[in-house]
Amino acid sequence: MSVNTIAINRQMRRFDDHASVWLFGYGSIIFKADFPYLERRPAHITGWARRFWQGSHDHRGTAEAPGRVVTLVPEAGADCAGMAYLITPEVFAHLDHREKNGYLRLATAMRFEDGETAEGLIYIAAEDNEAFAGPASELEIARQIAGAVGPSGRNSEYLLKLAQALRDLGAEDSHVFAIERHLLQLTGQPVVLSSAPRP
Ligand code: BEZ
Repeated sequence: MSVNTIAINRQMRRFDDHASVWLFGYGSIIFKADFPYLERRPAHITGWARRFWQGSHDHRGTAEAPGRVVTLVPEAGADCAGMAYLITPEVFAHLDHREKNGYLRLATAMRFEDGETAEGLIYIAAEDNEAFAGPASELEIARQIAGAVGPSGRNSEYLLKLAQALRDLGAEDSHVFAIERHLLQLTGQPVVLSSAPRP
C-alpha cells in the first residue's frame, strides 16, 4: 500500500517567496540529513508528540511485513525535541520524494534552545493517511519493528539510530526509549538504561 503525497506537497506554497525555510526534523531527518542545509540547530515544537504510529511499506518494511516509523500526533502540552535545518525551497522536492508515503508538509512554530522562535515546516503523517498504523503497546511496536526490513534497511536500525540521536540531543522521549528497551530485550542486546548521551 502506498499513498503518493508528492503532488499535494507541491501545492504547499506558503514559503515559496522565502530564500530559506526552517525544517523541523523529529525522525530520520535528525540522524540522516541527506540534503544540503545552510545551518542546523536543536529545536522544540509544542503540542505534538512523536509516535511510532506510521506504517512503512517503502523504506523500513514491505507491503507483506510493514515496519513502523515516527509521525507526530497532536497532544496538548507535549514538547517534541528535534533538529531544525535551514534549507532552500528546492530541497523540498527531494524531501517530498523521500517522504512520499503519507507525509504532508505543515507550517509550525519552533523554538530554539536560546529561546528564539521561527516559523517553519514539518512533515506529518496524519491519521487519515492510508499507511497510518495507529496506536499499539510499546511492546507490540517493538515486536513489529524487530521483524521488519525494507529497501532503506532494518526497521530496528531506524529505531536505534533515532534513540541514540535523541540521547545525543539530551532529549527525553519515554515512548521512543521504551520501544528501544523492548527491542533490545527481544533481540538479546544490552539494554540502555538512561536517556543520558552515551560516552
Ligand atoms: C523527520 O525526521 O522529521 C521526518 C522523517 C521522515 C518523515 C517525516 C518526518
